Amino acid sequence: MMFNNPFAVLAESVSPTLLQIFVIIMVVLVIIGTLVDIIHKKNVKYFFDNAKKAKLSATKELGTGKKVSVIAKTIATDIATTAELGAGKRRIAHVLGMYGTILFWIASVVMIFCYTSEDKITPSVWPIMWHVGAIMTCVGGYWFWLFLRVDVLAEAYPWYRIIKADLFVLALLACATFGLAWSYTQSLNLENRWDDKVFLTLYIMSNLVLFGGVYWSKFAHMFYKPGAAIQKNLAEADGSRDNLPPLADEPKQFGLGIKREQPKHY
Ligand code: HEM
Repeated sequence: MMFNNPFAVLAESVSPTLLQIFVIIMVVLVIIGTLVDIIHKKNVKYFFDNAKKAKLSATKELGTGKKVSVIAKTIATDIATTAELGAGKRRIAHVLGMYGTILFWIASVVMIFCYTSEDKITPSVWPIMWHVGAIMTCVGGYWFWLFLRVDVLAEAYPWYRIIKADLFVLALLACATFGLAWSYTQSLNLENRWDDKVFLTLYIMSNLVLFGGVYWSKFAHMFYKPGAAIQKNLAEADGSRDNLPPLADEPKQFGLGIKREQPKHY
């Protein structure tokens, strides 16, 4: 299973062009969903207005070299390792899910666009990347959803309580889970049995929900968060600090109570 390109097997009964059109539609859905989100919530306008306002209180003019170095550092730490989540399980789960999803998506696109025609043999690296990516997404995502989610960890709601905010993580998990189940059942060579067709249908539906639901879900955070991290670090470097007061130069004194339990009541 790990070495099979499931899309190449599917292309024996469905036109590869149809698979490629499906991917293009998903990309278009993400663009439309994000643009409608930006127009409706006016978050990007707020972001740029705020950045312009903060610039007025800058204490230093940053040269291009300094700006490039701040941006490069932000990409290497804040974005690539989701530093915002601090040290601990939450960050490990997110990094697993994030890189898993990136591998899963890249491998899907390469296998669909380059290795679905009859005369092409898929190099093993791509199916391995696709399966490993899906497994990493499942490990990080289920760990987050079952144990680390604020509702479950801090608010003591049961893990099976589902709200609209779970749309993104659940659709992502459905894609990875049904993708793996489809590939597994397909690799069993069940001929005309129903199993792999059911999982393929569920895989298609979860992709439609994930990419079609961008406006309603947290999908677009993967575009907003990097922008916000870059802006925050540039504001730190030019002294404007987003119009926030400077950090107090005093020892932290919270009393012993702070040590009694982990801070988890948000
Ligand atoms: C392919 C890229 C990414 C994927 C698949 C992804 C996936 C996820 C998922 C599934 C969640 C949980 C959503 C929920 O609260 O229900 C999440 C939350 C979060 N993501 Fe991402 N993410 C990506 C990129 C990023 C990037 C680039 C950043 C920051 C620079 C980021 C920062 C965060 C933060 C701060 C949270 C909140 C976590 C929490 O509440 O514990 N993500 N992400």
